[in-house]
Amino acid sequence: APPLLRLRSGTLIPQLGLGTWPLDDDGAASAVETAVSLGYRHFDTAENYRNERGVGEGLRRSGLDRSEAFITTKFNKEWHSVDGVRQTAEASLQRLGTDYIDLLLIHWPNPGQDRYVEAFRGLRAVQDDGLVRAVGVSNFKPAHLQKLRGAGLVPEINQVQLDPYHPRRDVRRANAGLGIVTEAWSPLGRGGKLLSDPVIQGLAGKYGKTPAQIVLRWDIQSGVVTIPKSGNPARMAQNLDIFDIELEPADMAALDGLEGDEQISDSDVFGH
Ligand code: A2P
Repeated sequence: APPLLRLRSGTLIPQLGLGTWPLDDDGAASAVETAVSLGYRHFDTAENYRNERGVGEGLRRSGLDRSEAFITTKFNKEWHSVDGVRQTAEASLQRLGTDYIDLLLIHWPNPGQDRYVEAFRGLRAVQDDGLVRAVGVSNFKPAHLQKLRGAGLVPEINQVQLDPYHPRRDVRRANAGLGIVTEAWSPLGRGGKLLSDPVIQGLAGKYGKTPAQIVLRWDIQSGVVTIPKSGNPARMAQNLDIFDIELEPADMAALDGLEGDEQISDSDVFGH
């Protein structure tokens, strides 16, 4: 089973979870139900994915006790105010069919509007009231984190696009300096050319694993929380089956040194 990391609030997060974008409600319900039977306990959704109802439905169908599940969701930019965050948190709770959220994230900083400081104050308020266990951000760059820090606010998690071709060294350094846990979305490079990289394929052969498993193991050993998406039961099982190997330091260094395209699109910080 994935190890648990302790966030600043004391909340424990399973270091590997199931990504659910772009599954619809039906796809998410069946993926989550299957994932629970395979051993997944952490599920990542968002208002923007329009599948929170499906995630909640899958959890109920699985029979898993609520206290055994870890649910992350995120809210859109129209809720970037103290009152707005309370409204969106309550709406997410209703769609998920639960009475608390384990981790609620600001989905994008939307730097043009610069209301993310107010949004974070709203997160603190719903955390104080027990609607939300842990609070964080997504797609924040170091400058956005510094602005929050200047207001005396520090997220527990920053979830960003991260894989060996997008190592996000500046973001990881800024997170570490502030005690923020880094979480990787699209850790498998969205199923693209990353998984046919010759270095990764070589390591897959050496350890008797698939390229996806090598990449996820790199996340785990880097201290990064990772949420590979799959709607396919065999690949879901594969992505969880990474706790019986340990990459040697030289192999971690080889993955750290992969040259990729570090460009991250503006839509990631502005939202859709
Ligand atoms: P599928 O859902 O059919 O399994 P990311 O999490 O980086 O966005 O990647 C998700 C993409 O990678 C999806 O297209 C998913 O397809 C695919 N994928 C998930 N797990 C694996 C795996 N173990 N090997 C290859 N492709 C995978």
